[in-house]
Amino acid sequence: MQNASLYPSLLAPFTLAGKRLRNRLVHASMTTMMGENARVTDRLVQYHANRARGGAAMIVTEPLSMARHQVLPNKVRVWNDDNVDGLKRWADAVESEDCRLLGQLQDPGRGRHAPGKNPAAVGASPLPDDISWTVPHVLSGDAIRRITAEFAESALRLQRCGFSGVEISAGHGHLFHQFLSPWSNTRDDEYGGDIEGRTRFLRELIDALRAECGRAFIVGVKLPGNDGVRGSIEPEEAARITRHITRAGNVDYVCFAQGSHARTLELHVPDGYGPRTPYMPLIRELRKAASAVPVIALGRITDPAEADSIIERGDAELVALGRPLVTDPAWLGKAAAGRAHDIRYCVSCNTCWDTIVTQHRPIACDNNPRVGRSDEVDWRPPRAAHRKRVIVVGAGIAGLEAAWIAAARGHDVTVYGRSSEVGGKTRLRAQLPGGEALSSIYDYQHAQAIKAGARLELGVTIRAADVIGLEPDAAVLACGAEMIVPQWLPEDVRAAALVPDLRSALSALHGHTAHQRGSAVIVDTDHTEGTYAAAELLHSKFGRVFVITPRESIAQDVPLVTRQGIYRRLHEKRIRIVTCAEPRWSTHAEDGVLEYVDVYNGDVGTIEDVAFLTYSSPRAPEMSLATPLRAAGIDVRLVGDCFSPRGVLAATAEGHEAGNAI
Ligand SMILES: Cc1cc2nc3c(=O)[nH]c(=O)nc-3n(C[C@H](O)[C@H](O)[C@H](O)COP(=O)(O)O)c2cc1C
Repeated sequence: MQNASLYPSLLAPFTLAGKRLRNRLVHASMTTMMGENARVTDRLVQYHANRARGGAAMIVTEPLSMARHQVLPNKVRVWNDDNVDGLKRWADAVESEDCRLLGQLQDPGRGRHAPGKNPAAVGASPLPDDISWTVPHVLSGDAIRRITAEFAESALRLQRCGFSGVEISAGHGHLFHQFLSPWSNTRDDEYGGDIEGRTRFLRELIDALRAECGRAFIVGVKLPGNDGVRGSIEPEEAARITRHITRAGNVDYVCFAQGSHARTLELHVPDGYGPRTPYMPLIRELRKAASAVPVIALGRITDPAEADSIIERGDAELVALGRPLVTDPAWLGKAAAGRAHDIRYCVSCNTCWDTIVTQHRPIACDNNPRVGRSDEVDWRPPRAAHRKRVIVVGAGIAGLEAAWIAAARGHDVTVYGRSSEVGGKTRLRAQLPGGEALSSIYDYQHAQAIKAGARLELGVTIRAADVIGLEPDAAVLACGAEMIVPQWLPEDVRAAALVPDLRSALSALHGHTAHQRGSAVIVDTDHTEGTYAAAELLHSKFGRVFVITPRESIAQDVPLVTRQGIYRRLHEKRIRIVTCAEPRWSTHAEDGVLEYVDVYNGDVGTIEDVAFLTYSSPRAPEMSLATPLRAAGIDVRLVGDCFSPRGVLAATAEGHEAGNAI
């Protein structure tokens, strides 16, 4: 049931190129890695149909292969008739839900964020990509015109298959961005030089699309807002480009991205370390240059009230959500029905980016274990055939996910948690810089568990005999994992627990506001984000902070977009990063001197005046309950770190599966 009085601006219809949009919500283009062998797959169709069914008025697909040089297997091929049936099926699945489907037209050009270089790259000028240093093959004027014609021909094919339009991705440091920017375009032909020349490729493409597909076909453009690269496209240049692109009246909407294929790539997927809706001040400015063309606001808009007020204020006509609609396809439907509290919110962690870019696998989400499944939209746990007694040990996110689902399925569920609060280690992370949004994962689970009748016994350490005495049919062990004490600490120091692990150290520091002289040192054999968030916290409490790691660099287990932010903040705070080094315990430790040894040449360095020493290390699962419970004949399931220490993604996914399997 939709209640238009709740978010009247967000729920108001709109028209683009004569096509009706039922509300103002657009699904921003998101690469899903669900295409295979350059073909449309059932999964890809399902993913988009779910977002349409969940309430989006318009969806922009991931980039499609629309010119003949584009041959990646995960990108659906549109430049010949191979996929016509699949494209029709895709369009029909979305359009039949009263949702407009736009194909994205993009080429990475020289841009590459995976290791290595792209030998197939084409580009404006023989200049290196700012991340991979790929130097592209320079497109001649004739090649540009040929590619433009191929793009337009493919757009026509999309139109014939039932798509409502296309979006040209001209931001994010990709090919069109490279032509637009004086930093990457140093051509002296008609496609370079002044703004007229640098925008020519894009303008000719827009004209070609219009000529091929007519006026009743949506043509949108994603433009660079501020790419953060000096001498490239800063806001004033972005405004000039916007004026040039929109003045002919051939574009149906514009939206703005930030960052580039450079040290600013992180800006295109703003995370929890910055403000909410961070692009809005810039969007308001660039809107003035858009020649009355509708603007789609974008960038960490996660809450329906935020979206509604952006439109109500007149800052944009439409709002686009990328990551938040991965997390909850029914975001709009729930909001419209007065159930915003039931939304599973995006926590801006960029795990989705990690799954597609680093792991090359279909998009996944920390807070949505059902991405792309057929029952994903507003999913409710199905009732179990028989009510069972279920004990969940551990009230972190793996345990809570299992608990709320098992309870909602009709089981008799009791959760035992050692801490007096739910959330486990994720709660600790949520209290560190950049982590606040993570609390919505366990808050949602907690609320759902209570609603479904689960009992929570918190502040309790339950033993195997206690669990067996309760005679459960099933036990979910979500007891987490503990950091392994590193071997460089001598036996007596370990025995006396003189040097705490990072988690214990942070708990001890909680509420400790005084600034202390001396150095804080984290010995890092972890390389996940929380360690560096902790370093930032320590920076606010100690004179100096050091991170020591035996690897060649830090943060190796986080995606590039997260790593860039980590490096920027640690450098800005002058936190010292010591690489290729391991501590060596010596008698000087008692005087506050920590020695460390270069792992390659054995040279010894020292840090004086150490006031705080801790380590962040690999973790060992806490699974001691498993053997006795199994011996007692109980159906035991290990989830999350308790099975094998990993991150939030595995915890929610495995808790989810366990809750469903019992
Ligand atoms: C996993 C992931 C994949 C993305 N893929 C694309 C893409 O293929 N094309 C594109 O234009 N933008 C892509 N983006 C950027 C989004 O469209 C959007 O601009 C960005 O995520 C900010 O919006 P959000 O805060 O609502 O997620 C991607 C972002 C993420 C996190």
